[in-house]
Amino acid sequence: MKKAILLTALMFSVLSMSSFAAGKNANGSNSAKSGNSAKSGNSAKSGNSAKSGSSVKTVDSGVGKTLVVYFSATGTTKRIAEKIASIAGADLYEIKASEEYTREDLNWNNSNSRSTREQNNPSSRPKIGSKSLSLNGYTTVYIGYPIWWGEEPRIMDTFVESYNFDGIRMIPFCTSGGSGMGRS
Ligand SMILES: Cc1cc2nc3c(=O)[nH]c(=O)nc-3n(C[C@H](O)[C@H](O)[C@H](O)COP(=O)(O)O)c2cc1C
Repeated sequence: MKKAILLTALMFSVLSMSSFAAGKNANGSNSAKSGNSAKSGNSAKSGNSAKSGSSVKTVDSGVGKTLVVYFSATGTTKRIAEKIASIAGADLYEIKASEEYTREDLNWNNSNSRSTREQNNPSSRPKIGSKSLSLNGYTTVYIGYPIWWGEEPRIMDTFVESYNFDGIRMIPFCTSGGSGMGRS
């Protein structure tokens, strides 16, 4: 458990330091936002439980493997995920969209862009293209994503609805241009 606490503390400081000045938007141009920031959704507690978002799970934290799962459209969350995995000695799994997001897909200034349409439709479940994942042996899963319109990209819903995480401690983290984890 000590390792988990240390890792969470390290993760938070790594994430805080990894703010990107003059946050670039999906179009590669500088956005008006103050820069990227990353947030961790929970802090590890002593004992065998950890808060993850609004749910509390009890797990055996002394054994088992750690996995870092992430979705990243422009590379920021990927870099953070790799740092966490390297600190935690964890495996990495990238959630890739079966149809990769283009620059125009990510254009939040376009009310008809793919990402805008998906975020405006809570039922949207973009297909995942990466090979399916086995959660066997994992007791902790860090799960990371960028904030899109104050929420998680819909492909994260596709992912979490595709697996059974019972008994696994879930630790969310995200990157953004400044928004908190908000409604994600
Ligand atoms: C479609 C879209 C919507 C976004 N919405 C927000 C937002 O609501 N708040 C925010 O702070 N940043 C927002 N951003 C910025 C991203 O959260 C930020 O650049 C993130 O670090 C990108 O991560 P990635 O490089 O792993 O894809 C948005 C980016 C995109 C592409």
